[in-house]
Formats: sequence, C-alpha cells, structure tokens
Amino acid sequence: MQSFENQIAFITGGASGAGFGQALVFGRAGAKIVVADIRADAVAKAVADLQAEGITAHGITLDIMDRAAYARAADEVEAVFGAPPTLLFNTAGVNSFGPVEDTSYDDFDWIVGVNLGGVINGMVTFVPRMIASGKPGHIVTTSSLGGLMGSALAAPYSAAKAAVVNLMESYQQGLAKHQIGVSVLCPANIKSNIAEASRLRPAQFGQSGYVENEDSIASLHSIHQHGMDPVELAEHVKAGIVANQLYIIPYPEAKEGLRAHFDAIVESVLPLEADPEGARLRTEALQNWAADRAKVFMEKQGG
Ligand SMILES: NC(=O)c1ccc[n+]([C@@H]2O[C@H](COP(=O)([O-])OP(=O)(O)OC[C@H]3O[C@@H](n4cnc5c(N)ncnc54)[C@H](O)[C@@H]3O)[C@@H](O)[C@H]2O)c1
Repeated sequence: MQSFENQIAFITGGASGAGFGQALVFGRAGAKIVVADIRADAVAKAVADLQAEGITAHGITLDIMDRAAYARAADEVEAVFGAPPTLLFNTAGVNSFGPVEDTSYDDFDWIVGVNLGGVINGMVTFVPRMIASGKPGHIVTTSSLGGLMGSALAAPYSAAKAAVVNLMESYQQGLAKHQIGVSVLCPANIKSNIAEASRLRPAQFGQSGYVENEDSIASLHSIHQHGMDPVELAEHVKAGIVANQLYIIPYPEAKEGLRAHFDAIVESVLPLEADPEGARLRTEALQNWAADRAKVFMEKQGG
C-alpha cells in the first residue's frame, strides 16, 4: 500500500501510546480512523483530539478478548464507513512483570488472553471481511522485542508476543495472494501508558503471582518516559507498510542482541553433511504433502 488517503484504519489500543500515535500519523495521511479501546473515556478523548486536527475518527469501546463484541465492532465499522477496514492495527496490549516461577494461571490467562487472544480475535474477525471487500489492505500487529527472545521476568508476555510474530509470518504467506500485506512491529521501549496496564486487569483474572502496586507502576513509568515517541514509531510503521516489510524493528540498540540470539539458534542446527539422505527424504515428503494439500484447499475455495 502506497497511499493512505481514504483508507479505513481500525486501531486497537488506539486511545493511548503506540495506538494513538498510529491514529495521528495515519489520520494525518488521510485515513479514516477507528479508535477501538477498552477504556470508554479514553476513546472519547482520543476521538475528540483527532477530530480537532480535522481527522475523520470514530470511537468504539471494545475489549479485544470479547469475540461477540469484536464482531459487533466490525459491523459498526461497516455501518459507519460503508466498508470493512483496509488497515488493521492490532496494537492493544498489556503487560505485568514478575518471576517466571511465581506466574499464576490468572497471569497467563489475562496477559496471553489480551496479547495473543486479542490478536487472534482481530484476525478471525477482520481477515475474511477484508478479503471479501476485494480491496488491497495491510495488517500491522504490535509484538515486542520480548517476542523475539524469552525473559525470566516476563514469561506470559514474551510467550504471547512470540506467538504473535509467528502468527504474522503465517498470515503474511497466506494473505499475499489477496493483496493484503502483513507486518509485525517489534518495539523496544515506547513512551506510553503501559505502566498503568495492571489497572485494566479484570477481576476474573485477579489472582496474580506478581507484586503489582503503586511502586511497581512508578518504576515502570521510569522506563517508559524514555521510550520512543509514538508518533515517531508510527512513522516507522508507515514506512514499513509502504515497503511491505514483514518485520518492523526501528530500534538500533536491539541489533547485536538479536544477532547473537538467532545465531545461537542457527548454530544449533546440524550441518547438511550430518544426514544428507534423511534430509532429502524428509524435505521431499513435506513438499509433496504441501503440493497435494494446495490442490485440496484451492478446490474448497473454488479456485
Ligand atoms: N511501551 C513499550 O515499551 C512497549 C514495548 C514493546 C511492545 N509494546 C506493545 O505496544 C502495544 C501498545 O502499548 P503501549 O505501550 O502504547 O501502551 P498503552 O497502555 O499506552 O496503550 C495500550 C492501549 O491498549 C488498551 N487496551 C488494553 N487492554 C485492552 C483490551 N483488552 N481491549 C482493548 N484495548 C485494550 C489500553 O486501554 C491502552 O489504551 C502493546 O501491544 C504493547 O505490548 C509496548
């Protein structure tokens, strides 16, 4: 996608931080903006701020974990703007930190539920509608640098964000034939309100194994006040969409750590000389299966 004029952008987490930066940048570039966020008051404020700039904006209060509400939100976009989004930003996310060995089921269920479940709900809700509209589009999901390597203090968050990277790799391969590009944004530090995320924790996921209090929130703010400005980050996202980049990682400080991490993975793979015949047979079997299934799937899709 090269031009954002008159595109319809659905932004989860659009009321704050990275999501609001995307609303500003893509709104200024001519897109119609849907701010979808769990906090009704913040949605109203974000929409008012966007409209004050002359941006066309519509707000929807949405918990991305709620599938029925997600379907209603998608219907609302079509009712308001006459078509499904051509730009989907899965940006909403929450985090909470503590030792992996103290992590409770509620920590996993809430953090994975929003950061992975919410993205899954966005994809299952919108991808068929975007394909049916027949228009080119682009999807950007916000993962994290934490999604590219594990962390003893952020296990549920890192696991969910890792899954999201992998999921976008799969969708990118599958959606190219529909002219829908897919990117995954892996930020390091963003200047945002994510330090406050624990305040959004629903009562049904209230049993945390972590220490969450005013002190832990203040200490997280001390990191995020030095993060990248959300508008600057969204400009990198815009460039990434124009270039149809799968990975968007505009943080130079991450490069050497990522290289060491992925080098360690690649180094652990045996060289081809270790088992050339077995490698050939296994690869052929996989290729034959994929070719056979491709025929079946194409028949099902009427292709
Ligand atoms: N802040 C960072 O340093 C950092 C680093 C890497 C990745 N990220 C990711 O960036 C994304 C944006 O976060 P941010 O830093 O701008 O934080 P933020 O808290 O400023 O914005 C996140 C928004 O998501 C909304 N939200 C939370 N749960 C929701 C739900 N269930 N349904 C709908 N909306 C919900 C919040 O109300 C908030 O407005 C997240 O996915 C986060 O994991 C942030």
